[in-house]
Amino acid sequence: MAIRNRVWEIKDSFGLENLKQNERTVPEMIGDNEVLVRLTATSLNYRDYLMVIGKYNPRQKLPLVPCSDGAGIVESVGKNVQKWRKGDRVLPIFAQGWMDGSPDLESLRTTLGGPNDGCLSEYGVFAESGLVKTPDHLTDAQAATLGCAGLTAYNAVVRFGGIEPGSSVLCLGTGGVSLFALQFAKTMGAKVIITSSSEEKLERAKQLGADETINYSTKSNWEREVRKYTDKKGADLIVEVGGAGTLSKSMMCVRPYGTIALIGVLAGGESNLSLYPILMQGVKVQGVIVGSKNDFEKMNQAISHNKIIPVVDRSFSWEEVPQAFEYLQSGKHFGKVAIQWA
Ligand SMILES: NC(=O)c1ccc[n+]([C@@H]2O[C@H](COP(=O)([O-])OP(=O)(O)OC[C@H]3O[C@@H](n4cnc5c(N)ncnc54)[C@H](OP(=O)(O)O)[C@@H]3O)[C@@H](O)[C@H]2O)c1
Repeated sequence: MAIRNRVWEIKDSFGLENLKQNERTVPEMIGDNEVLVRLTATSLNYRDYLMVIGKYNPRQKLPLVPCSDGAGIVESVGKNVQKWRKGDRVLPIFAQGWMDGSPDLESLRTTLGGPNDGCLSEYGVFAESGLVKTPDHLTDAQAATLGCAGLTAYNAVVRFGGIEPGSSVLCLGTGGVSLFALQFAKTMGAKVIITSSSEEKLERAKQLGADETINYSTKSNWEREVRKYTDKKGADLIVEVGGAGTLSKSMMCVRPYGTIALIGVLAGGESNLSLYPILMQGVKVQGVIVGSKNDFEKMNQAISHNKIIPVVDRSFSWEEVPQAFEYLQSGKHFGKVAIQWA
């Protein structure tokens, strides 16, 4: 017997217009070490959008179910599974083969939402080791934001950031990663400066705890403002999601021997950047790739202990998947865009 499984998939060719609903099946009898999860929610990452339109990996094999993030409930377990039972609330991990430490190239090829099918699906079959427990205080839509944006921000701030109480952290923009970074940095007692193109979003960021705000649309020399807000010392950590379009300014407002966590390329991925500031000021430019299962579990402990609630701007229904992607692409969101169907 097989279970009917509705999915959204990119079938024959890339493009948001080619993201369609389809019906697949999952086997009722799963492998001995596998877990069948009834998925209930996902959240969108910019990577998912790039994947759908064919810009993330034009050689990605199709059909593909997009979306690396998910949340759900265990439906059944294989006979060797020890850790999970029917009814447990779980979250699939981003790279199913990356358990701990630094990733190897092979484990980086085990990511959900490309190259492997993702979570925009009513059911998913995962290895016992490919899941973590959902923090109890979160809804599934909130928890479905943790696997990619949450974990990336956690690693940028907690693992690589070298943050202490009183450190200064600059977050660029008010997207998913930046708002998680704001929340983690505030929890650690840091001073947070955040930029946005919108006054209204900056107001909302203040309510979340941001200490200083800068509108990068009206203040094109925002790096000077950052220096001003850090007593001319420069920020200890910059959560860099802009990439080529913002990195040279970030280098001008990070402190000597400070860290730039290079996470995204929202403002371009190629650049003829001068390397002198890195060299002359000992700046550490640290690329971040989401994180391991062990990082995810540690982050969830911190989230549970501090009762951190992810910022979900809007939650869409199953039928509204294309609209959810369009909303993400519009840049109108503050924090995360979720999709919940059960
Ligand atoms: N390396 C990794 O492991 C990893 C993991 C997750 C995400 N990422 C990448 O990180 C980036 C951010 O991801 P996200 O999920 O947070 O995206 P998102 O939620 O879509 O964030 C979009 C927001 O970024 C801000 N932004 C856009 N261009 C900007 C610029 N030039 N300067 C400052 N802010 C700008 C805007 O904020 P305002 O509207 O406030 O202006 C925009 O609303 C993406 O490139 C994504 O692919 C990488």
